[in-house]
Amino acid sequence: MKILAIESSCDETAAAVVEDGRKILSSVVDTQIETHALYGGVVPEIASRRHMEAVVRVTEQALADAQLDAHEVDAVAATCAPGLIGALLVGANFGKSLAFALGKPFIPVHHIRGHLAAAYLAYPALEPPFLALIASGGHSEIVQVRDYTTFEILGGTRDDAAGEAFDKVARVLGVGYPGGPKIDALAQQGDPTRYTLPDPHIKDAPLDFSFSGLKTAVINLAHNAAQKGETIDREGLAASFCAAVVRTLVPRLELAVGETHAQRVVCAGGVAANSFLRAALQDMAERTGTQLYLPPLALCGDNAAMIGSQAYHEACAGHVGTTQQNAFATAPIGADIRQKRSR
Ligand code: KG4
Ligand code: ZN
Repeated sequence: MKILAIESSCDETAAAVVEDGRKILSSVVDTQIETHALYGGVVPEIASRRHMEAVVRVTEQALADAQLDAHEVDAVAATCAPGLIGALLVGANFGKSLAFALGKPFIPVHHIRGHLAAAYLAYPALEPPFLALIASGGHSEIVQVRDYTTFEILGGTRDDAAGEAFDKVARVLGVGYPGGPKIDALAQQGDPTRYTLPDPHIKDAPLDFSFSGLKTAVINLAHNAAQKGETIDREGLAASFCAAVVRTLVPRLELAVGETHAQRVVCAGGVAANSFLRAALQDMAERTGTQLYLPPLALCGDNAAMIGSQAYHEACAGHVGTTQQNAFATAPIGADIRQKRSR
C-alpha cells in the first residue's frame, strides 16, 4: 500500500510517499526556518501562508521522486492534529481535497503518533508494545505504546515542552531560532557542571516533570550576570542546560521502564536529535538491559515520511477519514481525531 502523506503542523511543509508503513519511496521537507528566524520564533500566520505557497510544489516533488503519478497512490494522509491550527488546516484540507479528487481514502494522522512511527521507518522489525519518550517542540511525554493505534500517557510535562525550553534558552543566549541544534552545538565546548540548575519534582507524580523552572533559572542567571556586568560562560550554560534536560527526562523514563517492565524503548521528536540526550539514553539502555530505538536525525524533526508510516497503521485499523474531517490544535495522543471534537 503506497500512501502519499502531507505534514504542515508547524514550520515545515513536507510530503512523502511511504510503502506499507516501512519503506520511504520519497520524502521532501521544505523548511520555513529562515523566515521565522527573522522573528526569533514561528509566526503562525506566516507559517500558514508559506504552507499555502509550498504544499503543491512539495507534493509534486514527492510524487516525482517516487516516480509515481498521483493516481497510483492507494491513499492520501495528512497531519490533522495537534499543531498550529492555521498551518494544520492548509495541509489537512489540501490532503483531504486531493484524496477526494482522486477517489482515494483520506487518512487523518496525529502528529505525535507520526513522530513515534519514525522509529518504524528506521527499524523495520520494530513492533509495539514498547515504551516511548516523546520530546518535541510542543510535547514531552512518556507513553506506553500498546499497539500501533493504542497509547497510554504515563507522564509528561506540567508546563513547557522540552523543545520549547531549548528555544527559549537559545533566545536568552542570543543564538537564534531554532534553539535546539544551536544549544546542542554550543554545549559541545562547555562544562556541564559549570552552573547548578534546578530539577523540580512533582509531588505524588513521579513520572511528571516541569521545564518552566529550569527555563526561568537560566533567564535569571543571564539577567543577573548582565546587571552585574559579568560575562556569562555561554558554552558552560548551554552544556549545564542540556545536562539538566537529560536529568529531567532520563531518570523518569528509567522509572517507567522499571514500572512497566519494558524491553523496548523508543525516543522520538525533534529533541531526540540532542546529542546529550541520545548518549544518556544509550547509557540507560545498557543499565536497564532494554533495547533502544533512536531514529536518525533526519527522522527526528518534522517530516511527512513519519506521517505516511503511521497512516498505514491507521488504515490497517480502519481509521479512515470522511470528507468532513477537521483539524485540531490540541488532541491527546490517544484521541480519535476523526471525531468532530477531539475532546
Ligand atoms: O518535533 P519537532 O521537529 O517539532 C514539533 O513537533 O514541535 O521539534 C522541534 C523542536 C524545536 O524546539 C527544536 O529546538 C528542537 O526540537 N530540537 C532540538 C535539537 N534539534 C531540534 N533540541 C535539542 N537538541 C537538538 N539537537
Ligand atoms: Zn513535530
